Amino acid sequence: MYSTLLTHVLIFLCIFSALCLSSDHGIHPLDSLTASELTQVQTIVNNSICSTSCQSLSFHYVGLHEPDKPIVLSWLSDKDSTKVPPRQAFVLARINFKNHELIVDLNASAIISNKVHDGHGYPLLNFAEQTAANRLPLTYAPFIASIKKRGLKLEEVICQSFTIGWFGEQKTKRIVREMCYYLDGTINLYMRPIEGITLTVDLDEMKIIGYRDRLIVPVPKAEGTDYREVKQKQPVGSPIKPITMLQPHGPSFNIEGHVVSWADWKFHLDFDMRVGPILSLASIYDLEKDESRSVMYRGFISELFVPYMDLTEEWYYRTYFDSGEYGFGLCAAPLLPSSDCPENAVFFDGYSMSQDGTPRKLPNIICIFERYAGDILWRHTEGAIPGKVFTEVRPEVSLIVRMVSAVGNYDYIVDWEFRQTGTIKVNIGLTGLLEVRAAAYTYKDQIGEEVYGTLLAENTLGSYHDHFLNFHLDLDVDNPANSFVKTKLQTTAVMDKRSPRRSYWTVVSETSKTESDARINLGSGAAELLVVNPNKKTEMGNYVGYRLLPGSVVNTLLSDDDYPEVRAGFTKYNVWVTPYNKSEKWAGGTYADQSRGDDNLAVWSLRNREIENKDIVIWYTLGFHHVPYQEDFPVMPTINNGFELRPTNFFEHNPVLKVKQLAKVKWLKCCKECRHNLTADIDPLA
Ligand SMILES: *[C@@H]1O[C@H](CO)[C@@H](O)[C@H](O)[C@H]1NC(C)=O
Ligand SMILES: *[C@@H]1O[C@H](CO)[C@@H](O)[C@H](O)[C@H]1NC(C)=O
Ligand SMILES: *[C@@H]1O[C@H](CO)[C@@H](O)[C@H](O)[C@H]1NC(C)=O
Ligand SMILES: *[C@@H]1O[C@H](CO)[C@@H](O)[C@H](O)[C@H]1NC(C)=O
Repeated sequence: MYSTLLTHVLIFLCIFSALCLSSDHGIHPLDSLTASELTQVQTIVNNSICSTSCQSLSFHYVGLHEPDKPIVLSWLSDKDSTKVPPRQAFVLARINFKNHELIVDLNASAIISNKVHDGHGYPLLNFAEQTAANRLPLTYAPFIASIKKRGLKLEEVICQSFTIGWFGEQKTKRIVREMCYYLDGTINLYMRPIEGITLTVDLDEMKIIGYRDRLIVPVPKAEGTDYREVKQKQPVGSPIKPITMLQPHGPSFNIEGHVVSWADWKFHLDFDMRVGPILSLASIYDLEKDESRSVMYRGFISELFVPYMDLTEEWYYRTYFDSGEYGFGLCAAPLLPSSDCPENAVFFDGYSMSQDGTPRKLPNIICIFERYAGDILWRHTEGAIPGKVFTEVRPEVSLIVRMVSAVGNYDYIVDWEFRQTGTIKVNIGLTGLLEVRAAAYTYKDQIGEEVYGTLLAENTLGSYHDHFLNFHLDLDVDNPANSFVKTKLQTTAVMDKRSPRRSYWTVVSETSKTESDARINLGSGAAELLVVNPNKKTEMGNYVGYRLLPGSVVNTLLSDDDYPEVRAGFTKYNVWVTPYNKSEKWAGGTYADQSRGDDNLAVWSLRNREIENKDIVIWYTLGFHHVPYQEDFPVMPTINNGFELRPTNFFEHNPVLKVKQLAKVKWLKCCKECRHNLTADIDPLA
């Protein structure tokens, strides 16, 4: 009797608290590995690999080895299924200085696959080895002498590990370059590079194997580089008065385990130390059809490529793969409530692991919140009916999933936005600090050579560079079997007398049969990019689909034979389509560090597989060409680019026709006029 009562109380609380995490949701097959599962992986690997002898074992990546898609889908459709497919981990480890790829089965407590990768490239770097490498210069006599020669204080020097790319070398070792910076009066180390020194570290031996001090360049001054609020002189102008987002009745979303439901959307959200947020099994409930319809099986950022355009000896190699070299998830920053995410956000933790495999908690790295920014979802004013005026307006409220990755100097803001219309909108914001080169110049007119950048401040050149982000978008529009349809808007001349017009445009569609038909550069000509289900039509006879709407289109400007371009072959096209293959996840290849371009999306696509009426994956490359300007100094205001996945003949008509106007917020215990002079410290629920 007592327990029944308690159950009722719990149910009651759950109904009335949107955030109530039900305790019996169990494991979802796509859940990331938990802390205890990561510990299990560590124990299993350590016990079986090191039981006899191992000079060295270091972990570089541990992630979920997800079950095959048909298994996940059948688990999902079987309402009574209790048995979750075996939980497995995919591990990249260095064992006795070799690259090992392990699959660890946690249910069987065993390593079920152990492959040595003897091809090119190396796994992502872990934090421990970078930290160790960063300390080496500080006790290295030639470096200490270089610092002295420049009249700098060693205790104000900070070094960072930089991956070195690949430039045709026959043999490679696991090495990084150390770039060192100067604090002494600022925390903005990246604005104070100590230029002219090339210092090479062998990560396996953890020692300096190369050193050259080529030239002395003034270190840019500290003044004006600090971005902390406390360091700013009294601001002038009109400050913005307090402003916030309040939901007195709590959020409208519900989270069970890792499954988020909001409005008609439902999706699984998780975190991976390599790629960051992963959104899976996104489906939308169709009110007309009274069914939940699948949209996207899995979506995530598959790789980031950041090549700099500076050819000087200390700079030419800077062509980073932020995901495959540094770990886009590993670099996730804890989000600050009320500033990184609004007042009404809820936060999630993630896990990575340390060098010896011990799980490491990354607190508050993903937030979820509803956004109402005063925008209009749809409206119309009808004034053509004599004597009457009708106005109907609906507000735009959407759901945001946000992560920020601070990869060294840069901060990437990743937003996945779910809209009531069925649109998924992705926005990438770039902010943080530029990578600048120190130079002797203090005024533009002094520059007589190619400096590969803009003079931003005294002795400070902001280098030209790009950011390319490749998205893995496995759309399953009403089931996995889909086709890719490229639709061009074609100008047609009117030669006959049927109309006084001389031209018009019309729509010419073409279904891609194989991968080569679907490699697309969007630079020229208007195109619509559709993913349709060729086995399902609307009542009007159109194929149901979703379309990809790019934001501003950016293409690579590097030549095909340039080494960084070969390695980052996925930047050659904005759009690629491949048949689904569970092991093709990371567009820059598994071993991105010093890769040679022999295992990446561009190579996989050469197989030219059939993609019509198949389970297909869209890969979209979004880019930024970044020419720095003075406004980017000493910290960059955010710049944005993104894309949308929008329903396209997916619904029978406007899916938000029945969306209601927002209920008025009731300010409890708060008189009506005090709304107008509400101060930040009045709690409307108090
Ligand atoms: C790994 O195994 C070795 C040898 O059995 C042991 O000394 C070490 O403590 C283990 N490390 C961890 C992190 O479990
Ligand atoms: C594997 O282990 C998980 C967690 O312990 C369990 O929920 C699941 O049912 C197991 N699956 C199989 C196939 O044994
Ligand atoms: C899946 O992709 C991998 C890597 O490209 C390839 O080796 C493998 O043969 C592919 N599997 C199938 C069934 O095509
Ligand atoms: C709000 O402001 C008005 C005008 O400034 C003032 O008359 C009124 O007393 C204020 N109300 C409260 C509750 O502070």
